[in-house]
Amino acid sequence: MKPSTISLVLFLISSFSPLFAASNNGDTRIKLEENKQPHVKRSDFPPGFLFGAATSAYQIEGAYLEDAKSLSNWDAFCHSTGCSVDGENGDIADDHYHMFLEDIDAMHSLGLDSYRFSISWARILPRGRFGEVNSAGIIFYNKIIDNLILKGIKPFVTLNHNDFPQELEDKYGSWLDPEMQEDFLYLAEVCFKSFGDRVKYWVTINEPNMFVELAYELGIFPPSRCSQPFGNCLHGNSDVEPLIAMHNMLLAHGRATKLYHENFQPKQGGLIGLVVHCFMYEPLTDSELDREAAKRAFAFDVGWPLDPTIFGDYPEEMHKYLGSKLPSFSLQEKKFMKNSIDFIGINHYSALYSKDCTNSSCSAVGNSSIQGFVDKVVERDGVLIGEPTGLDYLFVVPRGMEEIVNLIKIRYNNKPMFITENGYSSPDLQEQRVSMLLNDVKRVEFHESYLASLTKSMRDGANVRGYFVWSLMDGYEWSQGYNVRFGLYYVDRQTLTRVPKLSARWYKKFLTNNSVLINQNASRNERLFGKDVI
Ligand code: FCB
Repeated sequence: MKPSTISLVLFLISSFSPLFAASNNGDTRIKLEENKQPHVKRSDFPPGFLFGAATSAYQIEGAYLEDAKSLSNWDAFCHSTGCSVDGENGDIADDHYHMFLEDIDAMHSLGLDSYRFSISWARILPRGRFGEVNSAGIIFYNKIIDNLILKGIKPFVTLNHNDFPQELEDKYGSWLDPEMQEDFLYLAEVCFKSFGDRVKYWVTINEPNMFVELAYELGIFPPSRCSQPFGNCLHGNSDVEPLIAMHNMLLAHGRATKLYHENFQPKQGGLIGLVVHCFMYEPLTDSELDREAAKRAFAFDVGWPLDPTIFGDYPEEMHKYLGSKLPSFSLQEKKFMKNSIDFIGINHYSALYSKDCTNSSCSAVGNSSIQGFVDKVVERDGVLIGEPTGLDYLFVVPRGMEEIVNLIKIRYNNKPMFITENGYSSPDLQEQRVSMLLNDVKRVEFHESYLASLTKSMRDGANVRGYFVWSLMDGYEWSQGYNVRFGLYYVDRQTLTRVPKLSARWYKKFLTNNSVLINQNASRNERLFGKDVI
């Protein structure tokens, strides 16, 4: 459908001005974005730009007690209280532990440059640093790495993506105790030694900001600790514990990167970074207070883990509002924390509006210092910020990609960035038939529009080096179980058969043909997938 001339003019103005978009009526904006067919092709990205897909261990591996693996925090959580809305768990997941060769073939057939996966800590070190290295775990990841490299796919490895041996929780309370830094350092050393000759991209920790919020503020992830008004937990303190857990995660990160930079990087020559969940925060209104609230929301969410890894300390705003509640880095710690990353990993899915709570009435949650006195809302004047998705906190807001990358570029002096996750799950999946899940046109549109938005920031000079689709295949979506599906490949829950969705064929076409818009006059399907594959 062609946008009207007025719509087109509005669209053009708003595409060049995030502020205009923020102060405009959300509904108009969504319609305009839907009408725009993004023209994005692989050659819009520089040579050497990595295109990949991502997964994480607990979400796909299964084999939860095989070959001397111990119980992880997620295994223990799922087997005690129940961990997801559908009562499912990751015991079997996608059985990637046994099917990884088939999965690597799928990646190869897509033409991926890189595959981002995580190490199951409990598979490599079942008892943390209190027991032996499990050789079966090392062999498993060696096979994955070797087979990826055989197919020309670069491994992009995350050391910790939400899961760790339960023993570390039982012994000393995991991330709430500095002992966890020692355990993480040991895991990192074992992995650098065992895999670092072939792995050139390392991530220490995935989304510490999202993890501490879910585990220690809202109590949804294990160890389910929180307090009112954030949630109903038996134990915990939502105002304090997320800060402590984050502090230990950051120091663990800093110590592991110091080890890598000093003892491994000179020989192995890889890069190491941290992955952060990055919402784009737009002001709810054009008022000065809401604009300040949006800046604070960024500082309290994205700046919280990133500022220490680049500047050596937490953001000023956090010092101001949290005072002595905020843990502090010693001088020596500041020194090794500063510039402890070679790249920033950005997991970006969605945007939220920010409403000031220092001067107006807010929800009990927004009214708290740990949230920086900001309410994060999804509606403006009764209109949603974007089209809903399968997760109630994620909306389709393509402009957010350009905006967040630009913000991060400016704040961190254009440090190299990777988009380490970006993906889409449809709402109401339980009611959808398999044929609808396979014909995932919305996912294709999502990636096209977010990629187009990314190219805008890159044309403005953003130093982005790669983009990973979340996810290679449908998997265990944490507390949402298996009904929220993000995959390029559909996974049948009964047979575990993998079936490429339209989005997989689109990605392949995008990656191999260097052009998505094959023929402006062709049908939508032909444009997306070419005549040969439809
Ligand atoms: C991210 C997580 C990833 C997956 C996606 C949907 O926050 O890193 O494991 O759950 O969200």
